[in-house]
Amino acid sequence: MGQACLTNDERAKLLKAARDTVKHAYAPYSNFRVGAAVLTERGELFSGCNVENASYRLTACAEQVAIYSAITRRGKDMRIRAIAVVSESGADCPPCGACRQMIAEFGPDAIVIFQTRAGMEEMHIAELLPKGFIAKRKITK
Ligand code: THU
Repeated sequence: MGQACLTNDERAKLLKAARDTVKHAYAPYSNFRVGAAVLTERGELFSGCNVENASYRLTACAEQVAIYSAITRRGKDMRIRAIAVVSESGADCPPCGACRQMIAEFGPDAIVIFQTRAGMEEMHIAELLPKGFIAKRKITK
């Protein structure tokens, strides 16, 4: 857990990116609209919103979409420095278990910021996913 804290400027930009993305959410089934943004270790921002489907289990969480976007744009070596998650309604939205696993894959030292009714919370991914599964990565091209 050696990750340096975010600066106020980084935190503000990350939250703005997550909030700006909520409006794109496709959530006609749950009506729970979520926005997420990834700040990479190189200082770039990538955002995503939840995308639901009539076949409910196909739903993609906002965090997943943001991470896929970052990997798609910057490649497999992209690393998450921080990720923010907000809901449009202001309801609590800590990342779900699957998203925690996904954050840990690309951000083993990531800071996770999420909305709660009491305000924003900031936690290390290892606190949110203790003893998460980490396979030895093969060296790939
Ligand atoms: N959702 C997210 O986008 N991220 C989470 O971490 C939790 C849940 C979405 C999935 C679904 O579209 C809606 O919120 C309600 O579960």
